[in-house]
Amino acid sequence: MKKLNYKELKSLWIDFYKAKTHAQIPSASVVPENDASVLFINSGMHPLVPYLMGESHPQGKRLCNIQKCIRTGDIEEVGNPNHLTFFEMMGNWSLGDYFKKEKIAWSWEFMTGKEWLNIDPNRLYVTCFEGDEVSPKDTESAEYWLNQGVGKDHIYFLPKSENWWQLPSGTGPCGPCTESFYDTGKDSCNDNCNPSCNCGRFVEIGNDVFMEYIIENVGEKPKLNKQRNVDTGFGLERNLCLVNGHKSVYETELFAPAIDKVKASADPGFYNEQAARIICEHTRAAVIMIADGIIPSNKGQGYVLRRLVRRAVLKRLEINCHLETIFDNLIDFFCGYLGEYYEQVATGVENIKFVFNQEKDKFFKTVNQGVKEFEKVIKFVHKDISQNSVFSGKTAFRLYETYGFPIELTKELCEEKGLSINMEEFTIAKQKHTLASQTANTGAFKGGLADTTGATTKLHTATHILHSVLRSIYGFDLHQKGSNITPERLRFDFNLDHKMTADELNVVEVRVNEIIAQDLDIIVEEMNVENARLKGAIGVFNSKYGDVVKIYSITSPQFSSVEFCGGPHVNKTSELGAFKIQKEESVSAGVRRIKAVLN
Ligand code: ALA
Repeated sequence: MKKLNYKELKSLWIDFYKAKTHAQIPSASVVPENDASVLFINSGMHPLVPYLMGESHPQGKRLCNIQKCIRTGDIEEVGNPNHLTFFEMMGNWSLGDYFKKEKIAWSWEFMTGKEWLNIDPNRLYVTCFEGDEVSPKDTESAEYWLNQGVGKDHIYFLPKSENWWQLPSGTGPCGPCTESFYDTGKDSCNDNCNPSCNCGRFVEIGNDVFMEYIIENVGEKPKLNKQRNVDTGFGLERNLCLVNGHKSVYETELFAPAIDKVKASADPGFYNEQAARIICEHTRAAVIMIADGIIPSNKGQGYVLRRLVRRAVLKRLEINCHLETIFDNLIDFFCGYLGEYYEQVATGVENIKFVFNQEKDKFFKTVNQGVKEFEKVIKFVHKDISQNSVFSGKTAFRLYETYGFPIELTKELCEEKGLSINMEEFTIAKQKHTLASQTANTGAFKGGLADTTGATTKLHTATHILHSVLRSIYGFDLHQKGSNITPERLRFDFNLDHKMTADELNVVEVRVNEIIAQDLDIIVEEMNVENARLKGAIGVFNSKYGDVVKIYSITSPQFSSVEFCGGPHVNKTSELGAFKIQKEESVSAGVRRIKAVLN
């Protein structure tokens, strides 16, 4: 394998495709220009949708670039070896020009060629689409891989969940894909271990999508497009990690110096690598977002930015990173290399710091009110430490609940004063509280539920799916205005400025049924309100800061429902049956009502 640094890898990609007569185009902003259905540009093809649909591109039919992308669907995974919310995607496209044969030959050449990545061919595995009622089994791609010398036992045919690519909006150009993987040499996790497995044996190198289909409306089946395109994406950070023999993207030059800086200024007693990774990753993503004009707010892109900054601040507290200028230092570091490629970053460093720090300081204030509260307790309760050296666990819990004070922080402040915390008391207080709020939540929810038989449980889960489907179609300003469930039907009220047409109702129905058919798990978790909000949970939050609440999630790569709720719910969406809308009507100005059943 060829060792390459960040700049070299970027140049290598562009040089390779320029040699294949591709024109280099700039990266678009991470904020989509003409697409309100999603918050962020998530891939290289995203800004090119009009051209993939058939419009002619001023720079021709062969394009390449390195695109800034944001994917926040699995923010909780950040810090795991290869998870990032912001990443760069090395891409190239054929807009109705070459197709599978050339593309597979070039991907192979780029991966294995001596002057390119020079990866040992024996370590490479590929996956192809196994076929469905829309698109046949992709034996053609497999043939081309075989022709390059890939062994039959290194080719896997996988289903749509693995080998089909489309935008999260569920519309636009799409198609089967073939993905390339590197075998790290780790043992297989079981007999069925294959490249799509998350056990760590295989790491993805790149993805070639054969975009010959198009989905015109959400929920419709893909149709053949008038133009056959290729859309390729190779994740830059993962490839940099791979060619340099690192185990994680956080070990690459893009993060290691930043993580070292955090580590050096953290308290060794509290330091953990995961927190340092999250601090660095979120700061880096915030740099790109702010450079592209996003400011923290309570909705849309601004809300995501706010979550990232706040999470970074909390993680900093967790590991007690003393350095006052730590975030400024990190911003300087990330702007250093990103600024060489993105003008908005190079010219925006001061503004990035200003916007970041404003949000950070605002959030810090809440936490600092907690510090004041702590000082008061010390003054009045622990005036004489020789008499009273144990800090109340109940008070520690109050700090946690009311001011979002991590227990690690309270512990540390206590240690400074020569106090220890009654941890048993803290744990009991926390448990009691969890139990109380669970009961309260369930009680609160019961207002909307006529009873809790199997039928209503199913309708309740269907209500969550309906809610998220409506938001995915009409935007995140759509909110629940009321809900009522009987064993026969669900009734859901929400804000919308018009009567829904028959077509719109049909799209909603199809979409809900698709999610039901995907057999997704309904996951329940408990967390405090602040964390639930950070996780993006929606629903009626009438709990106080610090309260422990239940969050129900139903997610897939294309769908996400995360709701604050007392339950109950079914375990899997396939238990629901067929969803049917019976009526759509007005409740009051700007509020619509849907009545629906499950058959
Ligand atoms: N659009 C494809 C992806 O992001 C290449 O994987």
